[in-house]
Amino acid sequence: MEKKILKVSAALALACICGNALAADKVDPGKREYESNCVLCHGKDLRGGAYVDFLKATPPDLAQLTKKNGGVFPFERVYAVIDGRQDVKLHGPREMPIWGKDYQIRAAEYYVDVNYDAEAYVRGKIFALIDYLNRMQSK
Ligand code: HEC
Repeated sequence: MEKKILKVSAALALACICGNALAADKVDPGKREYESNCVLCHGKDLRGGAYVDFLKATPPDLAQLTKKNGGVFPFERVYAVIDGRQDVKLHGPREMPIWGKDYQIRAAEYYVDVNYDAEAYVRGKIFALIDYLNRMQSK
């Protein structure tokens, strides 16, 4: 009986420690996606990153998207630009990578042996990025 109580309290203590660690450092999917894919060209503050000098086109200030669009976040355009598949068909090659294609490939790697919906995976990633960009707009 005592052993059982000891085991239960040890498990509770562990749950508390892990729970607190998680609470202190919550994962923000959009921020995480942005920081692993976009920072080099667009910068942590959305105003331009370390690669700017190597690009032919200057990446626009992504913190000004709402301001430059009359106070409304330009959802549709930003979605199309990030996805890129349609954009490239319409406007030809560009420097900004085609994330729709990239996420399609990643979906295949992620769901190796289950039936999956690649487009739902792509949408989820782009929505998370848009949510983050929207939260980062300058007032
Ligand atoms: C290799 C550099 C590079 C990377 C990486 C990159 N971008 Fe871009 N991005 C650009 C450039 C350059 C432009 C300007 C348009 C063009 O010439 O392609 C741009 C344009 C944009 C625009 C268009 C803004 C507008 O006003 O229409 C958005 C939104 C954007 N990028 C978001 C992202 C996001 C989100 C990521 C990460 C998933 C990302 N970019 C990764 C280089 C990059």
